[in-house]
Amino acid sequence: MGKNIVLIGFMGSGKSMIARELGKRLKRQVIAIDDLIEARENLSIHDIFKAKGEVYFRDIEHKAVKEASCRENVVIDCGGGVVLRKENLQALKSNGIVFYLEATPEVIYQRIKGETHRPLLKTSDPLGCIKELFHQRLPLYNQADHTIDANDASIEGPVAEILKRIEK
Ligand code: S3P
Repeated sequence: MGKNIVLIGFMGSGKSMIARELGKRLKRQVIAIDDLIEARENLSIHDIFKAKGEVYFRDIEHKAVKEASCRENVVIDCGGGVVLRKENLQALKSNGIVFYLEATPEVIYQRIKGETHRPLLKTSDPLGCIKELFHQRLPLYNQADHTIDANDASIEGPVAEILKRIEK
């Protein structure tokens, strides 16, 4: 049975781009948890938060994580808050190697400041909000099997590092 490759990390850490590249190079299917949720609900993440709230979102996120964790040999691209429920990380680890893509709050802010689709960052002080959430979540992200430096603008470094580590 081939273990899944699971990517976790804060919004804007490059999870989706890195997941797609890994999928291409390893010829593995990529499952994006947020895409599963949007397809199932027939609503954007933004609209799910707006209409039904964060608790509802976290419930369906948990269902999607359980489902994806039953697969084999896939790359799983998780939303940044997946670590908030410890059962999620347990399920993902039961059948996968979990990589935390680490980028500083300042780098994250520079990457995502022009974007509008992330409901949790729609505040008057997005950098302050990123810093606060980041520090709350850091101990959870640190439970990953591997930490990968994702501060560089290019995804090549993190992709090569992940490939190296799974070959070992
Ligand atoms: C969230 C991150 C988002 C998405 C939702 C909540 C979070 O995914 O799941 O907006 O709590 O950090 P990305 O990390 O792919 O932006």
